[in-house]
Amino acid sequence: MIQENLLIVTAHPEFLDAGLAEIRRFDQRLTSVELLAPGIALCAAPDIPTLMRLAAEQHPIFVRHIAPVQAIVPLSNTEQDIGKLALAMVSLPTFERLERGQRFSVQTRIIQSEESSIKRPYTSGHLNQALAEAIAGETGAVESIKKPQIVVSLLCTATKGYLGISLARENLSDWPGGARHFAKTTGQLSRAEFKLLEALEVFGVTLPTKGRALDLGAAPGGWTRLLLEAGLHVVAVDPANLDRRLAKQPRLEHYRGYAEHYLEEATKTHKSFDLIVNDMRMDARDAARLLGQASRCLRNDGFVISVFKLPHATHEIDPLATLRAALALLNKYYGIVQTRQLFHNRQEVTVLTARPLPTRA
Ligand SMILES: C[S@@+](CC[C@H](N)C(=O)[O-])C[C@H]1O[C@@H](n2cnc3c(N)ncnc32)[C@H](O)[C@@H]1O
Repeated sequence: MIQENLLIVTAHPEFLDAGLAEIRRFDQRLTSVELLAPGIALCAAPDIPTLMRLAAEQHPIFVRHIAPVQAIVPLSNTEQDIGKLALAMVSLPTFERLERGQRFSVQTRIIQSEESSIKRPYTSGHLNQALAEAIAGETGAVESIKKPQIVVSLLCTATKGYLGISLARENLSDWPGGARHFAKTTGQLSRAEFKLLEALEVFGVTLPTKGRALDLGAAPGGWTRLLLEAGLHVVAVDPANLDRRLAKQPRLEHYRGYAEHYLEEATKTHKSFDLIVNDMRMDARDAARLLGQASRCLRNDGFVISVFKLPHATHEIDPLATLRAALALLNKYYGIVQTRQLFHNRQEVTVLTARPLPTRA
């Protein structure tokens, strides 16, 4: 059956309500219909295309991914599902968007908890392949997993397949459910490296290839490694040790101490950086204050990528209030370009700021 008013919203499970509240700001008529899995909500709204367009323009913080639901296909968990899903897909009015030469990808998610108890004769990879072959054969569109223009989104629960076709940019991420996985590399020093890689990709920025970077909360040194690899001279600030593999790096200076102390010295001695990154494990508001101080050391054309750690919600503590306060503090010193909760962020968000403001001194 063709659907017109459903969509699937994906966020970090603890921040799903915050994400839904953000989406509701685009359309107050949005209702949550069913929680399909932790962090994945089926929602209804009368005008999905407008809602998705607004979300893509305004980049909500907590919503990682949105996919329209244009058909709901009953599943029997047999081989026959594949044919049923393909038929439902080609019957969608939005299937016409797939034209010769256009780049598309099929993104299937099979809800994990149910996958373990149900034996299916197919995996998400099988479904992606079968549906992609059907599309390429019917339309001449070209499969492009990394840079699709059009995405066919499929989410399978134990009993239903939720299917929809949309522009990739309106899904808010090119990856299924916003789950951006990176391959592990041999030289990798920490899982945190993925966070910086994802931030650069999502914010569409590249690291400078020369100049000086300040890495606050650097140990064990994953971000430092990436900054060095880009070609930067790095001052890595952390009381903890850096990974031994970073020893003898000629462009690396380790300040073995707290950011508070380093920044006092650095501002007095007029140190200057092209880029400041922060991944310190500390209250977001304290981190924002320190970044405010650090703004005096940032060149006018420099930028900041910072993680802000958030508390878990309790009766007394509202993590969103902490975030608002931290962003307001940061905004006194920098133009905030974007704040997003990335796939590799856990209890935290990542912020990109533009140049420091003239009032920072
Ligand atoms: C999540 S780890 C950073 C991981 C790092 N970005 C990487 O890629 O390997 C957080 C670090 O913040 C450091 N930290 C916490 N408070 C700090 C402070 N006041 N000054 C400097 N570093 C601090 C901790 O010692 C810890 O090593």
